[in-house]
Amino acid sequence: MTEDKRSTGRRALAVILAAGEGTRMKSRRPKVLHEVAGRSMLAHVLAAVEAAGVAAAAVVVGGGREDVAAEARRRSPGARTFVQERQLGTAHAVLAARDAIAEGYDDLIVLFADTPLVSPATVAALREGLAGGAGVAVLAFEAENPFGYGRVLRGADGGVLAIREEKDASEAERRVTLCNAGLMAIDGARALALLEGVGSANAQGEFYLTDVVERARAAGSATRVVLAEEEEVLGVNDRVQLARAEQIAQQRLRRTAMLGGATLIAPETVFLSFDTEIGRDVTVEPHVVIGPGVSIGDDATIHSFSHLEGASVGVGAQIGPYARLRPGARLAAAAKIGNFVEIKAADIGEGAKVNHLSYVGDATVGAHSNIGAGVITCNYDGFFKYRTVIGERAFVGSNSALVAPVEIGSGAYVGSGSVITRDVAADALAVGRARQMEKGGWASAFRAVQSEKKKG
Ligand code: UD1
Ligand code: MG
Repeated sequence: MTEDKRSTGRRALAVILAAGEGTRMKSRRPKVLHEVAGRSMLAHVLAAVEAAGVAAAAVVVGGGREDVAAEARRRSPGARTFVQERQLGTAHAVLAARDAIAEGYDDLIVLFADTPLVSPATVAALREGLAGGAGVAVLAFEAENPFGYGRVLRGADGGVLAIREEKDASEAERRVTLCNAGLMAIDGARALALLEGVGSANAQGEFYLTDVVERARAAGSATRVVLAEEEEVLGVNDRVQLARAEQIAQQRLRRTAMLGGATLIAPETVFLSFDTEIGRDVTVEPHVVIGPGVSIGDDATIHSFSHLEGASVGVGAQIGPYARLRPGARLAAAAKIGNFVEIKAADIGEGAKVNHLSYVGDATVGAHSNIGAGVITCNYDGFFKYRTVIGERAFVGSNSALVAPVEIGSGAYVGSGSVITRDVAADALAVGRARQMEKGGWASAFRAVQSEKKKG
């Protein structure tokens, strides 16, 4: 990670809270590891923090701590993890990262790992609040239904007087619709003192992070509100909210793809991933699913009902309908993958065609080769995988089985229905099937005999 000092010139630490039990997900998997647009919610938050130029990240783990910590390390190798043994509240959770906070950063930013759609710009906006001299900057939004959220009570100066949790709020306070999103930036120099001063005398007996607002004001610090859209700060507590987060993420990704020059004929039926790369003048027909790790070159067409994952599609290539590209599928320019074809860990050369009903795995197919209908690369013996190498301008006849490891030379022909177990030389013809024989008049004689039998 690189520190971006362009915006504020200040060093920041992000503390990401991920220790909650997530019981409402009703899952064996820790909540923050559930995925949105192809990566975990925790990874989304780590990426936003990184993109906002925050150099240091601390993830507070509790429930499912090994798995959560492993995901944090995988996505953000520099991130440190801290364990909160008992979930005593959000301020208590932040203090689990006390050792990191004590290192002395200019900005302390607190984020929730179950709030995955926060943008880097919003993280930066919170930091700018501090750069303007505030002790605490709170991210807030106008809630359509504020029930359950902490209400942001504003002072005449526009700052925040307090944040009142639903269970502690008076009737009048509950009518406030400005809600706490959960993200907060605290002046690093004052953060530990503010957090340590938080008590648990409230309806839930928890140490509320939100109490730092009142404490900062009492100590004479200014407090600020930064506004966000409700969609951006959606918190995921159950699978209905997870689906809503997915929907919002997909809408963003489709919009980015279309503004980048791709035609999505029915965008609401196309599912993309956080890292999908789509070039210009790409057409994606209805009902296409694109998993993580996919790039699609300019002018390519993805026909309906195709499923792509970990694949790269060259310029002008055509995929589907009903094609499956699995990890390691690399298609050169103008390659053509047709209906009911599966490609895995295979390089398909420029202009090569695999048009119908094939499985090509652990293979190389040279430029302009033609792989007939129903051709299968037999790549697995139950223990190990083997490669099939096909040269350029080769022609593999329909319904052939290529038993790997095997090599088909450039320009060679393989007769239809062959089972190829030995290498085929360049420009040769190989036929590996029973020779056709013919018995003249056999059928009429057979019919005569059988119909006599039936009468008798
Ligand atoms: C919190 C805010 C509330 C805000 C809402 C936004 C407080 C006191 N309240 O309430 O003002 O409107 O979020 O969604 O901060 N966590 C821990 N350890 C704990 C407790 C929580 O790591 O001991 C983590 C959870 O995993 C979660 C986050 O902190 O990621 C928020 O906790 P949660 O219990 O969901 O807080 P809310 O009651 O939703
Ligand atoms: Mg919550």
